[in-house]
Amino acid sequence: MQLYFKGSSRGSAAFTIQGVQPENSSPIILAENLTKVYSAGRVQVQALRGVSFAVEPGEFVAIVGPSGSGKSTLFYLLGGLTRATSGRILIDGIDFASLSDAERTRLRKHRIGFVFQRFNLLPTLSAMGNIEIAYEVSGRKEPMDRAYLDHLGDILSIRGRLKHRPSELSGGEQQRVAIARALITRPAIVLADEPTGNLDSKNSDAVLHMLQRSNQELGQTTLMITHNPEAASIAGRILYMRDGEIVRIETGSRSGVEKAPASASAAAV
Ligand SMILES: Nc1ncnc2c1ncn2[C@@H]1O[C@H](COP(=O)(O)OP(=O)(O)OP(=O)(O)O)[C@@H](O)[C@H]1O
Ligand SMILES: [Mg+2]
Repeated sequence: MQLYFKGSSRGSAAFTIQGVQPENSSPIILAENLTKVYSAGRVQVQALRGVSFAVEPGEFVAIVGPSGSGKSTLFYLLGGLTRATSGRILIDGIDFASLSDAERTRLRKHRIGFVFQRFNLLPTLSAMGNIEIAYEVSGRKEPMDRAYLDHLGDILSIRGRLKHRPSELSGGEQQRVAIARALITRPAIVLADEPTGNLDSKNSDAVLHMLQRSNQELGQTTLMITHNPEAASIAGRILYMRDGEIVRIETGSRSGVEKAPASASAAAV
């Protein structure tokens, strides 16, 4: 599938890119009765208490809930970064538990782009180095698309900051570098934990706009954890979590960013 991802904020380039939406429409993510118990000494914390849901290819799903409700725990399980205490996760119909560590790592690197709540940038590398190494470990054969990186850099307003190390960047800049790092490989699945948590409204709009465009134009399946109801409203579906469970599911408006922010549109034109 050929799709067009138009222009940078400097207005010139147009990108012809390969869509990532799989042909069939069986769930790309299936979570079945997930539980997670953390043991810290004698204390046990039940972080997830039986979470089940399915995500279709190309969906944009927001996960909302109070602090401590298990959102990041779910993020780690869905990304194959932690094992569930019980229950199953299928990505593209493949059960994580059936894979060896090496196979699980490969699936993760090929298919999933992560935006971590605490960014997880490597401190000794520049922002550019962080993006490049993520591209390298993804195992993509073709060289990194520099024009696409410029495009991400423009929309996320980090182009002039890429030579700096994380310690020389503001929290919001680090967050936007982490988003560029997740998107540079054009992953089939984007998992983003509070991607606007450290951003002012202008940059928050730009990030949401970027995630929404990636979702719509690349067919990326996107799961975004957020505390921000406006951010959640751009999703097609919103899952509400409380005390380790999904307690409500709503349909999102999907219109919050498209209509509203002059700032994001200006950044993206
Ligand atoms: N490694 C761990 N060891 C023990 N308990 C943990 C661990 N990680 C998380 N928890 C606990 O599990 C529960 C869920 O944590 P989680 O990080 O998933 O919440 P969250 O919804 O992401 O919260 P926030 O919005 O603050 O990021 C919390 O009670 C937390 O204290
Ligand atoms: Mg969290």
